[in-house]
Amino acid sequence: MTELENAVSAALAHVQDPEIRRPITDLGMVKSVVENPAGDTPGLLEVSVLLTIAGCPLSATIENDVRSAALSVPEVTDVSVNVGVMTPEQRAELIGSLKRRTIPFADPQSLTRVIGVASGKGGVGKSTVTVNLAAALTAQGFKVGVVDADVHGFSVPALMGLSDAKPTRVGELILPPVAYGVKVISIGMFLDESRPIMWRGPMLHRALEQFLTDVHFGDLDFLLLDLPPGTGDIAISAAQLLPGSELVIVTTPQGAAADVARRAGEATTQTGQKVIGVIENMSWMELPDGSRVSPFGEGGGRQVAEQLGVELLGSIPLESGVRAGGDEGQPIVVSDSTSPAAVALMALAEKIAVVPRGLGGRRLGVQPR
Ligand SMILES: Nc1ncnc2c1ncn2[C@@H]1O[C@H](COP(=O)(O)OP(=O)(O)O)[C@@H](O)[C@H]1O
Ligand SMILES: [Mg+2]
Repeated sequence: MTELENAVSAALAHVQDPEIRRPITDLGMVKSVVENPAGDTPGLLEVSVLLTIAGCPLSATIENDVRSAALSVPEVTDVSVNVGVMTPEQRAELIGSLKRRTIPFADPQSLTRVIGVASGKGGVGKSTVTVNLAAALTAQGFKVGVVDADVHGFSVPALMGLSDAKPTRVGELILPPVAYGVKVISIGMFLDESRPIMWRGPMLHRALEQFLTDVHFGDLDFLLLDLPPGTGDIAISAAQLLPGSELVIVTTPQGAAADVARRAGEATTQTGQKVIGVIENMSWMELPDGSRVSPFGEGGGRQVAEQLGVELLGSIPLESGVRAGGDEGQPIVVSDSTSPAAVALMALAEKIAVVPRGLGGRRLGVQPR
């Protein structure tokens, strides 16, 4: 290809098929781009496009869009557009490629860090930590999405003030609602409230896969997953669907909670995920006189971290504002950013943001000999 042909091809990547809403260059619709075809008109570009069906009603739109895209390249003085139709084989290939859609975050080239937030049991503050980390990372300038994958107790929409929000559909894509700059999607947004949730493993796997494939998050720096407690189907599905994902374990200082969190951590390391560290929540409570008490005991976070051989990333105090913020749909890092819990959560977000993305737990595309 000549330099000019390359430039025109690049410009054509901005032309979308009006119905499929993807660049025509990705759809195999650009057959050829030829500079000066007859050899007597420098600056004339001949572009051949293939429509998906004969007599396509949007043919004129595509032709016009192609012409203006080609003319947007400065050296191009004239454009001739040939319009053809795909062969049945070409069409079949296009349809096949559209169906074979994959999870963008599972692509080894993806720059998004996917972090699952896990715990051994419920009620330790996993969802609260997830939404606050998301809001904190956003405040630090990152692009963040949250997937509420806790099918049995989805609570992220309420914690983000999105209880009544519904995702928008554009063609085949689903656009997530946004709160505090965070793109949020919850399995709860798709459920029929009158029906009990009795989803089993394969259905859950399919639901999560569909979320991750069809929901259009755009380019993200971080995707946080609020996982159900324990080591159930969803945690395993998440690990399978997102082989490069990392995990953060949330625990309380309590011995028993620490024990289940450790088991959750161990099980997920078996699935090939990398545990980046432990967060201890409800670590202490500050009394009006400034002294601290530990209603849930001490040491759970450190214990889990040691057992998993990872870092204790930090501890969050028990604070009524954390609960109140959650009840009002405002993460505490937004509603009361100078409170000790918010400060602790902001520091945790900063720490997670700089944890280097190692190769631990990643499937490398090579086999040992
Ligand atoms: N640090 C904290 N201080 C006070 N309340 C908290 C704190 N962390 C969580 N909570 C409260 O504890 C309850 C359980 O938290 P949640 O995030 O729903 O837990 P999980 O997702 O692990 O089940 C919620 O009412 C929440 O507001
Ligand atoms: Mg929860």
